[in-house]
Amino acid sequence: MNRPKIYITRLIPQFGIDLLKATCDVEINPHDRPLTRQELLAQIKGRDGIVTMLTDKVDAEFLDAAAGVKGVANFAVGFDNMDVKEATKRGVPLSNTPGVLTNATAEMAWALLFAVCRRVVESDGVMRAGQWPGWAPLQFIGGDVTGKTLGIVGAGRIGAAMARKSRGFDMPVLYCDADQNEKLEQELDAKKVEFEELLAASDFISVHVPLLPETRHLFGAKQFKMMKKTAYLINTSRGPVINEAELVDALKNGDIAGAGLDVYEFEPKMVDGLKDLNNVVVAPHTGSASVSAREGMSRLVAENILAMVAGTPAPTCLNPEIYKK
Ligand code: DGY
Repeated sequence: MNRPKIYITRLIPQFGIDLLKATCDVEINPHDRPLTRQELLAQIKGRDGIVTMLTDKVDAEFLDAAAGVKGVANFAVGFDNMDVKEATKRGVPLSNTPGVLTNATAEMAWALLFAVCRRVVESDGVMRAGQWPGWAPLQFIGGDVTGKTLGIVGAGRIGAAMARKSRGFDMPVLYCDADQNEKLEQELDAKKVEFEELLAASDFISVHVPLLPETRHLFGAKQFKMMKKTAYLINTSRGPVINEAELVDALKNGDIAGAGLDVYEFEPKMVDGLKDLNNVVVAPHTGSASVSAREGMSRLVAENILAMVAGTPAPTCLNPEIYKK
């Protein structure tokens, strides 16, 4: 029997590769960079299954080039890089990696929250530059966390995990989401509020929405002006949810106290001025970069691909309706 031909657009943790190699022929992008569009379109021809990254656009052109593919598995929970409607129309299953990176991403949001509010990176820079003159009562005073209000925008898996981890800090939790999260309300006494109320009442706002037409630029100059001047904004979801140029202005003008960012509007670039600000902490989209999360993602993409090439529903399929046709 012919072994299915699998292409992986970027080296991933070995566990998933080994799982695939047991029954499939696997080829991996040999470069330590995303493939150019031309390279990608050439490499995906004639494959039975393809593992993509959030940097690969899976659209009509991709699906044309990959004609005959039995499935495409995204190595990410976010799938704004995939045209699900187009793939569904063509009967091509797509999948993502939910669940396995929930805690890692929520932990990253907390890391950014503390780093920006207690000025960890800024003071680390002073220490490394040998510029610390010694202890002083007015040095590097930052914000408080305990007892402050946490606002969660998007109370799905990751937003809810972020909220749950606030328990040790006795924080009242507000959230906004299209759906009610009754479990979160019972567990934490979390309160579902309108977006505007959350903006006005929160001391920390953590963003956990997918990138959709309606969430693009959810945060801009108007929303920053509605926030407390002492509030911090944390984003581990997708960069374009925030108008980054307007965030730079808000941080410069003191409309908000600070921001912790893991994602950017024009990755891998940051907009001009962002890196010059002390009241922002920036990480290179590493929310899911923990050992267990990346291993889990590697395992899950492999399980998805194996199901897809066998013609059975993938465990975390994004368009399961194709199997009902
Ligand atoms: C995701 O999974 O969507 C993250 O952004 C990358 O792991």
